[in-house]
Amino acid sequence: MRFLPLVSSLVGLSLLSLAACSGGPAESLPKEIVVGQYGSLTGAEATFGISTKNGIELATEELNGKGGVAGMKIRMVVEDDQGKPEEAATAVSKIISQDRPVAVLGEVASTNSLAAAPLLQTNSIPMISPSSTNPKVTEQGDFIFRVCFIDPFQGTAVAKFAYTSKGLRNVGILKDVKSDYSTGLAQFFTETFTGMGGTIASEEAYSKGDVDFKAQLTTLLAKNPDAIFIPGYYTDVGLIARQARDLGFKGPFLGGDGWDSAELTKIGGEAIIGSYFTNHYAVDDPNPVVQGFIQKYDAKYHEKPDGLAALGYDSAQVLYSAMAEIAKDPKLADALGDRSSVPATEEGRKAARSALRDAIARTAGYVGVTGTITIDDHRNAQKPAVVVEVTADGNKFVESIAPDGPGGAPPAAPVDAPPAAPADPAAAPPADPAMMKDMKPGMPMEGMPMPPSGAPKGDAPKPGGK
Ligand code: PHE
Repeated sequence: MRFLPLVSSLVGLSLLSLAACSGGPAESLPKEIVVGQYGSLTGAEATFGISTKNGIELATEELNGKGGVAGMKIRMVVEDDQGKPEEAATAVSKIISQDRPVAVLGEVASTNSLAAAPLLQTNSIPMISPSSTNPKVTEQGDFIFRVCFIDPFQGTAVAKFAYTSKGLRNVGILKDVKSDYSTGLAQFFTETFTGMGGTIASEEAYSKGDVDFKAQLTTLLAKNPDAIFIPGYYTDVGLIARQARDLGFKGPFLGGDGWDSAELTKIGGEAIIGSYFTNHYAVDDPNPVVQGFIQKYDAKYHEKPDGLAALGYDSAQVLYSAMAEIAKDPKLADALGDRSSVPATEEGRKAARSALRDAIARTAGYVGVTGTITIDDHRNAQKPAVVVEVTADGNKFVESIAPDGPGGAPPAAPVDAPPAAPADPAAAPPADPAMMKDMKPGMPMEGMPMPPSGAPKGDAPKPGGK
């Protein structure tokens, strides 16, 4: 007697799966929009993934709190790739096959983005990297975007700061040969710095995972550099700084956005204080958009957001804004929320992802926490970089460097006038970044030059501030 109910429930189950195959109960899945995220939640760059996830989560909660997109909530599916490229590819394959996302956010490290982007491109799934700055990332295909500046600009920005603002003339470099970001940034820095008349004392190399840098540092220090440029990630940078001090080096260290972590000063201690790096955002920027975000973030996570959190938030906002735009078409909205695995519906889902791709590509004048985001023809964003100083009480804003670099359409306002202080709060928009999507492009924002009004692409009309 106990056997029968089991049989009938088994029969019920198989009927259900049969029906699922023919398109039946799949329709009864609750409508929600699935977005994937992959990143380093563990490993030597764990703060990159965690901060990014926090920023994305904040944007998602805000949107869902307001009812989501076309009445559907966003569901984020997050995979940890431990900061390893092989794992990044595995994580993304898993998200694609198990969750059928409409878009994917990630990665932070360029090498990890490069490992997974081709999978998303092949499957026509839009990817937005919040923070991968190596130029090759968006070259993987027309579904691959980013909301940050790229390294030819960042390398130029550090070089100008070193040469002009700091008067440095002879700089040594220690780079990670396993990282596309590190090798690229070393190259772009070198091009500008030597072009200005500076000398590279020596360029030494290490590989991700190394913990002893004394041999390379000894060779480097023998050339008497004024400063050492370390285009690496915070864990390596902290260790390198300590070991360089142990070997007697007294000068400053310089770096790029890969330094951005609260862990940097924990690992580097005294050795790293007084160093400088370029970044996407400064926590002490008085701009109300920035301060409004910091307040919300602090209220939720009880810490100040780093640049990754801000970029994660901005990447999600750009994506959600594009979604809201295409969801005005009921057919596309329906396809965005279609989670069934029925092959017949894949065509509609693919059309929605293509429409989403096009809407992301049209992003213009979006006022983000990390600056105004206009996606250019190469699916990159041109934004200013900030230089910050590492101090015992956190990173302090030093100067802002406007985007006038390679591939960049010059902003309408004067380009080469670096503001002496962070953006002018008087020129700033309302404090809630969630409201910013209603702003129109061309409005003066955050004291930064706006992108030129007619620029920079041809095909479709821009919905603009959306
Ligand atoms: N730009 C780095 C890369 O491409 C990643 C990064 C961005 C790290 C911002 C920290 C802050 O690899």
